Amino acid sequence: MLNLGWPLTRRVIFSMDAETAHERTLGLLSAAPGALGGLASLTMGKPAPSLARDAFGVRLAGPVGLAAGLDKNGVAIPFWPTLGFGFVEVGTVTAHPQPGNPKPRMFRIPEDGAIINRMGFNNGGSEALAVRLRALRESGRWPTCPVGVNIGKSKITPLDEAPEDYRISARRVAELADYLTVNVSSPNTPGLRELQDRGPLEAILTAVLAEAGDTPVLVKLAPDLEPEAIAEVVDLAVELGLAGLIATNTTIGREGLTHDPGESGGLSGRPLWPLARQRIQVALDASAGRLPVVGVGGIHEAAQVADLLRAGCVAVQLYSSLIFEGPGLPSRIHRELARREISGGDLP
Ligand SMILES: Cc1cc2nc3c(=O)[nH]c(=O)nc-3n(C[C@H](O)[C@H](O)[C@H](O)COP(=O)(O)O)c2cc1C
Repeated sequence: MLNLGWPLTRRVIFSMDAETAHERTLGLLSAAPGALGGLASLTMGKPAPSLARDAFGVRLAGPVGLAAGLDKNGVAIPFWPTLGFGFVEVGTVTAHPQPGNPKPRMFRIPEDGAIINRMGFNNGGSEALAVRLRALRESGRWPTCPVGVNIGKSKITPLDEAPEDYRISARRVAELADYLTVNVSSPNTPGLRELQDRGPLEAILTAVLAEAGDTPVLVKLAPDLEPEAIAEVVDLAVELGLAGLIATNTTIGREGLTHDPGESGGLSGRPLWPLARQRIQVALDASAGRLPVVGVGGIHEAAQVADLLRAGCVAVQLYSSLIFEGPGLPSRIHRELARREISGGDLP
C-alpha cells in the first residue's frame, strides 16, 4: 500500500528541498514507527528465509541492507526492517555532536537518479546514539535483523588525534551494536580520506578493535582510492583481523552525470555504479576470499545485486535508489533474488 501510493508521495516529497523532505520523513518515522512499520510490513514483507545468510560475523535476514547516512542518529531503527532490509547501518556518528556543513548541502538530481551531498557528518554524537540503542535493547524493540553503527571523526578533532576520537565512539556503542563500521571515506570532512593511508588507518583500526570486544569491525572505503591503495587496505584489514570491508562511499568525481548542478560534495546513485562496481571488484580480487566484501554504490535493481553476489560479495547496501524508487525497493529486490533462486547456500 505504501508503495502503491509512491508516485504521488514522491511528487509531494520531491516538491520540498532534499534535506527538508529527509527531516520530515524521519520525523514521521520516529514519531510513529509502530503504525508505519505495521503498514509497511503488511505490504512489503521480510526477505524469504532462503535469502538469510551468515556474513561478517552476523546473521543477515537478506543480502540487501540500508547504507549509512540515511538514519544517522538511529531515530527510526525499528522501521527499516519493515521495508524488507536484511540489515541496517546507522550513523555516521562522531565522538562530539556536530551541526555539519551550512545548508543547503543535499541535492537531488532526478534526471540521473543521483544525489550530491556535503552534509559533513551532522549528527547528535555517539553518546546520544548509545542511549537510544540501549533503550531499544532494554525495551525489546531491537530488530530481528542486524543493526550496525558507522563511526567517523569529529570535525574539531585534529587528524593526528583521530584514533582517540574513533576509540571514544567505539567504546560507547560497541556492546550495543551488532557490528561497527569505521568510516574513513567521506569526502565532506577535511582530510578524512587521508586516514585511509596505511599508517593512520592502522592506528585507528587498532584503537577501535581494542574497544570492540566480540563485535565485528568493518572499514568503509572511497571509490576514489586507486586500486593499489585498496589492495593495501585489504591486506591491512586481513592482518588486523577485521570482519569485512564496505566498498564504496560517495565519489568526488562527476563521471556519468548528465545534469551537473555544480555543487561540491559526494556523488551517489546511478552514475556511481560503474566506478563502484570496478572498485568492488578490486577489493574482491585483492581479498581473494580472505575478507568479506559488502558492495555499495548506485544499486537500484536485483540484477546488480545478483551480479555482485555472484562476483563474491557477501551482501550489498543501498541509499540513493530508495529515495528515487520508493520504500518498496528492498523487498522488491529480495523477492526477485528469491525468484532467481539466489539463496544463501549458493553464495561463497
Ligand atoms: C545524503 C547522504 C548522506 C550520506 N551519509 C553517509 C554517512 O554519514 N556515512 C557513510 O558512511 N556514508 C554516507 N553516505 C554514503 C552511502 O552510505 C553510500 O555509501 C553511498 O551513497 C553510495 O550508495 P548509493 O549510491 O546506494 O547511495 C551518504 C550518502 C548520502 C546520499
